[in-house]
Amino acid sequence: MRLSRYFLPVLKENPAEAQIVSHRLMLRAGMIRQQAAGIYSWLPLGYRVLRRIEQIVHEEQARAGHIPLLMPTLQPADLWRESGRYDDYGQEMLRIRDRHDRDMLYGPTNEEMITDIFRAHVESYKQLPLTLYHIQWKFRDEIRPRFGVMRGREFLMKDGYSFDLTREDALHAYNRHMVSYLRTYERMGLTAIPMRAASGPIGGDNTHEFLVLAETGESEVFYDARVPALKLGDRAVDYDDRAQVAAICEEFTSLYARTDETHDAALFEQIPEERRCIGRGIEVGQIFYFGTKYSEAMGATVVTPDGARVPVEMGSHGIGVSRLLGALIEANHDDRGIIWPEGVTPFPVGIVNLKQGDAATDAACEGLYAALAARGLEALYDDREDRAGAKFATMDLIGLPWRITVGPRGLANGVVELTCRRTGESEEMSAEAAVARVAEIYAGR
Ligand SMILES: Nc1ncnc2c1ncn2[C@@H]1O[C@H](COP(=O)(O)OP(=O)(O)OP(=O)(O)O)[C@@H](O)[C@H]1O
Ligand SMILES: [Mg+2]
Repeated sequence: MRLSRYFLPVLKENPAEAQIVSHRLMLRAGMIRQQAAGIYSWLPLGYRVLRRIEQIVHEEQARAGHIPLLMPTLQPADLWRESGRYDDYGQEMLRIRDRHDRDMLYGPTNEEMITDIFRAHVESYKQLPLTLYHIQWKFRDEIRPRFGVMRGREFLMKDGYSFDLTREDALHAYNRHMVSYLRTYERMGLTAIPMRAASGPIGGDNTHEFLVLAETGESEVFYDARVPALKLGDRAVDYDDRAQVAAICEEFTSLYARTDETHDAALFEQIPEERRCIGRGIEVGQIFYFGTKYSEAMGATVVTPDGARVPVEMGSHGIGVSRLLGALIEANHDDRGIIWPEGVTPFPVGIVNLKQGDAATDAACEGLYAALAARGLEALYDDREDRAGAKFATMDLIGLPWRITVGPRGLANGVVELTCRRTGESEEMSAEAAVARVAEIYAGR
């Protein structure tokens, strides 16, 4: 992408309405535009990151054997009357009436609809286990939308629903989700800690929230200092191996880590004092096992091996896809702007031409651009006629992890400069070496 032809409306001034750094940087970097309270357009740069996050979520769900589908944003109220939640959900639900006077709503979540799909098409235990998920916009009429995409009213969520014959099978589905989520967040370069949670309006007793540590988080968190150091890494996971999956969950949940809602001061005191941490966190996901709450209310049953009919065991599992952009920036920025982890960056590398219009630098930049493209890497090439300082400031603001700078002086010596956004360190090397290095960094992503 050539910056001269792109749409990147960066702001020079700090927007007054933004209270936290991620919101400020998303507005300044031209990633989003607020259209109404808690409702945003995703401008091209923000949209690229959103799509990257979705892609990682899809890939990790596929690895766990979960199946994507797509349900609508608008739902008939009647389904929610069956579960009893049409009246219970309260003012967060946006209720709509169509021209035939039918009650509709903009879905805040999809338990009812997926249960309806299940009961229409699944009859037998032989069709289980089954986990269906989608990534779809939700609407919750939050009383205080704030912090940009972090607490929006319209927001993008991955929500998955597991169906199993027995409680034991359903708990395996729960564990499978926990491990797939750990992998998903790690691939994005995030540490998200599973913390035991309170169940809230969806109901159920087995539930964990995933929290990213950040001072601006809305939850108070209490945890053992050893927890954030736990890493899944690139170990091989067999999602059908119940013992392995359960052991990973045990590894990540046996140390103390809770939010204010479930905090137990007496248990916390048992941790050696120097390891007791209190901080704040952003909830980027939650998994629930709730058994037969919806299947009983809505008549979603399956025939068992002995011919009996039982309500199916269910769980629901969510990731805050659009909130993750905010969480990622809260965890990865400095005073000059965003610092994207390689896993989610909108472009893998930027090219800065220090002397646009100079035949040699222009040709070298075009050559780099083509060589990167040939390796499957789409660079953002700043080909505008602008001062070097302004070009660097834009690159730093939008946070591409790597930058290749091309100027006449370097070219005279046969080198360009490769700069790491996170450390600020630069290294001179030939253009070919820079391309090879960037390709190596992104190999396998
Ligand atoms: N208003 C929102 N804006 C952006 N993301 C949200 C919002 N509400 C929930 N999410 C994301 O969707 C995920 C799954 O939804 P869930 O029903 O667990 O939300 P929740 O527990 O009500 O969230 P919260 O406690 O932050 O209001 C959450 O973990 C969060 O990351
Ligand atoms: Mg939640």
